[in-house]
Amino acid sequence: MRATKVRAAVDTAIGIANLRFAYPDGVQALRGVDLTIAAGEKVALLGPNGAGKTTLLLHLNGTLRGKGDIRIVGQTLRDGSLKHIRAQVGLVFENPDDQLFSPTVFDDVAFGPLYMGLPKEEVLARVRLALAQVGMVGFEERLPHHLSLGQKKRIAIATVLSMSPAILALDEPFSSLDPSACRELMRLLQALPQTMIVSTHHIPIIRHLFPRTVVMDGGRVVADGDTEAILADTDLLEAHGLDVP
Ligand SMILES: Nc1ncnc2c1ncn2[C@@H]1O[C@H](COP(=O)(O)OP(=O)(O)O)[C@@H](O)[C@H]1O
Ligand SMILES: [Mg+2]
Repeated sequence: MRATKVRAAVDTAIGIANLRFAYPDGVQALRGVDLTIAAGEKVALLGPNGAGKTTLLLHLNGTLRGKGDIRIVGQTLRDGSLKHIRAQVGLVFENPDDQLFSPTVFDDVAFGPLYMGLPKEEVLARVRLALAQVGMVGFEERLPHHLSLGQKKRIAIATVLSMSPAILALDEPFSSLDPSACRELMRLLQALPQTMIVSTHHIPIIRHLFPRTVVMDGGRVVADGDTEAILADTDLLEAHGLDVP
């Protein structure tokens, strides 16, 4: 009995129960979200504009705090666990300019490990690995704001990979990318071992990268399951204002 319990806690990367959140102006953005994601799963988050996707992702590392229960790799998100959970969940914003603020690529990617108080050698090793994972070795001394959008997005991902997170939560990482930058980003996401939850409208990418799709609308999860089955359900997609492939 006890063994079963421990195993369940370890294998669940993200556990969300009855999550509700209203913005200060009263907009009820999440209306009771329940979602469980196992370690190693790669999940697409699909939904029309205003569905609550960004709001949900912002809860995963405590950037926003709603009512309800969030467990990350077995640990309940609360004030006392916030620092630990921030290191577990790499949250990448839709706009890389919201994530990159240092004078060089190196400083941006080193920021998290330095903040964690890691020794210099470890910081250097983590920056090297993170830049290698996103194919940006050699860009250390470049100014983040002078890079192309695709490069900025990859550096933004490197800034969270350097924290060695168990989970990646990416908000619309493919938005505004040209097809070749999209393909490059797909390849690098495919090679990463982390549990992933990724919001995107891009149906071909969902089909290619994510075995499971969660559909949100009106602040709730309205469908959750096998990607092929969800994308084949044209009534469901139409009912929620989504492109039918
Ligand atoms: N900063 C904010 N202040 C007030 N309302 C917001 C804010 N951000 C989002 N909302 C509202 O919350 C709801 C969910 O938005 P969001 O999570 O951004 O949806 P999505 O990412 O699926 O497009 C929408 O009604 C949106 O207008
Ligand atoms: Mg959004």
